[in-house]
Amino acid sequence: MKPIKVGLLGLGTVGTGVVRIVEGHQQDLESQTGAALEISRILVQDKNKSRSIAISPDKLTESPWEVIDNPEIDIVVEVMGGVDLAKQYILEALERGKHIVTANKDLMALHGQEILAKASEKGCDVFYEASVAGGIPIIRTLVEGFSSDRITKIMGIVNGTTNYILTKMSQEGAAYADVLKEAQELGYAEADPTSDVEGFDAARKMTILGTLGFHANVALSDVSVSGISQVSKEDIAYGKRLGYEVKLLGIAERQDDHISISVQPTMVKQSHPLASVNGVFNAVYVYGEAVGETMFYGPGAGEMPTATSIVADLVAVVRNLKLGINGKRGYTPYKEKKLKTDEQ
Ligand code: NAP
Ligand code: HSE
Repeated sequence: MKPIKVGLLGLGTVGTGVVRIVEGHQQDLESQTGAALEISRILVQDKNKSRSIAISPDKLTESPWEVIDNPEIDIVVEVMGGVDLAKQYILEALERGKHIVTANKDLMALHGQEILAKASEKGCDVFYEASVAGGIPIIRTLVEGFSSDRITKIMGIVNGTTNYILTKMSQEGAAYADVLKEAQELGYAEADPTSDVEGFDAARKMTILGTLGFHANVALSDVSVSGISQVSKEDIAYGKRLGYEVKLLGIAERQDDHISISVQPTMVKQSHPLASVNGVFNAVYVYGEAVGETMFYGPGAGEMPTATSIVADLVAVVRNLKLGINGKRGYTPYKEKKLKTDEQ
């Protein structure tokens, strides 16, 4: 198979990790797929910015068209973030028959249906494993691993930044603002960290998990949200004295045609496995009627864990290319079916 050319939209925390893994694991990737992956063009805002990896300057561009309208590029990886431009670029790339890998939960939670419909029309893959829980392959697990079961509950810690903040406040008595700054420096937080601390990022992820897990059309507006900005060190210390840890939990439950989804700071008993998920780690508990209780744990944000999920999606696209089944085996379980929410 000829080398598969990949274009990146973005070379920040996640994009940099993608370059590192594609370059560093080249032989392993090729032996799994039968094709070499080559990152040929990268969109950035500022070509002259100093970068943490050596990258040939002629690969960088400030024009999105050099990636999305480049006939040599087979797969576009969107790791720039934001909604409107990212959506526009992805739809334009799909229009040109390019497969998409994205880490963008904001986009998939809001416009997943439209993007997946366009992909299906064009015979293209859209994979978005990195959009939820960083390095934990939870999307693949829900769509493939639990395809035989009826999932009734998905619960977990799906935001690394807030779990990092709550852990440091609990274990070290650290100040909220200081730890948030640290999480930003470590590349965990969103460009606007309000999304993390006010629970919106977790709500977007729960929308995606609810949609995939319940095979239903869950909307972001179905999720009731409250974040951790009002949680004080005193609240955390008080909870600890009573045997609880404060965690930002996403909880999605389904009963017949009714769903209830929320994101909120929650007192979790110290004996519960979710109470000992610390730092940037995430954990997702899934209850299926047949399988019973399962839990998935791993790093929820950061350069290399997130890039692991992106590159696994690249491998999935290349495998589909080899079999000639792109657009036929992707994650398109978005359904017209709308379940009733708590307010209805
Ligand atoms: P980031 O560090 O802020 O990087 C964004 C990159 O996109 C930068 O290279 C930036 O260019 C480029 N960019 C942004 N807007 C652009 C525009 N309008 N035109 C051209 N280039 C543009 O972001 P990140 O942390 O890597 O996150 C990227 C995406 O992954 C987001 O959707 C985020 O939610 C998601 N995600 C992040 C993590 C994580 O741990 N960070 C985990 C899972 C998912 P410059 O470099 O020139 O500024
Ligand atoms: N800001 C997000 C988090 C990145 O902290 O979980 C991973 O999606």
